[in-house]
Amino acid sequence: MADKKLNLNDFYQMKQNGEKITWITAYDYPMASFAQQAGIDMILVGDSLGMLVYGYSGTVSVTMDECIIHCKAVRRGAPDVFVVGDMPFGSYHTSDSDAVFNAVRFIKEANVDAIKLEGGQRVASKIKAISDAGIVVIGHIGLTPQSSAALGGFKAQGRTAESAEALINDAIAVQNSGAKMLLVEAIPPELAKAIKQIVNIPLLGIGAGADVDGQVMICGDILGYFEAFTPKFVKKYANLGEVIIKAIKDYIEDVKNVKFPAKEHTYSILPEEKTKFDAMLKKYIK
Ligand code: KIV
Repeated sequence: MADKKLNLNDFYQMKQNGEKITWITAYDYPMASFAQQAGIDMILVGDSLGMLVYGYSGTVSVTMDECIIHCKAVRRGAPDVFVVGDMPFGSYHTSDSDAVFNAVRFIKEANVDAIKLEGGQRVASKIKAISDAGIVVIGHIGLTPQSSAALGGFKAQGRTAESAEALINDAIAVQNSGAKMLLVEAIPPELAKAIKQIVNIPLLGIGAGADVDGQVMICGDILGYFEAFTPKFVKKYANLGEVIIKAIKDYIEDVKNVKFPAKEHTYSILPEEKTKFDAMLKKYIK
């Protein structure tokens, strides 16, 4: 468990020492605070918030303003954790200067420590422009949910020699453009292992096996409160959905049966006011 806020140097040192980096998504103050208390190394305010928080069917409609609002809440909940803002679809695609403008918003308005964006060679100039502005960029290749339509759905990537080679070239392009870390999603472990041998920056994985420098998971997946779909690569550590439904059912039952609120949940009239209070009530209730 981290006893101080970690920075980029710490992550490079962890990679060097073979110590795994732990990363989880959070979108609000309480989850960020729980993650910090648990000792997580990094938090991602993923654009997965579109599905987890707003109930959209994917990530493409998530806006910059939504991302900033959630980054601010997470920053307040986890002041001592390395927080990464996720650049939403459209915020870095139009031009290098738009990419820098929006990355700067994450830093200035939400005080995050780094930004993440999706894509390899095709976004190399954006990674370079944002890095040149002094902002820590984390690349994201493999299954990139913002381009799931172009990828033919939420499918594992790099399963043929040709597509694996394209991903290796993407990884190299991301590193050469100035990204300080790289996330690979839904690719075979053998390919992730090869990418780890080819690039020098810390390699994080989601659905990419254990032979990477660290793992990221979506909080709603591992805690069991996101029910729309669960990818194969998720391990559930809790079933908060069940816990929450049971608690709300118990509350409903207690209210219906007048078991809640009980005396201990109420406030009393001040003892020295009781006589005056009863006299006052007589004016209204005969
Ligand atoms: O938005 C997100 O939560 C992500 C994860 C897939 C890591 O990018």
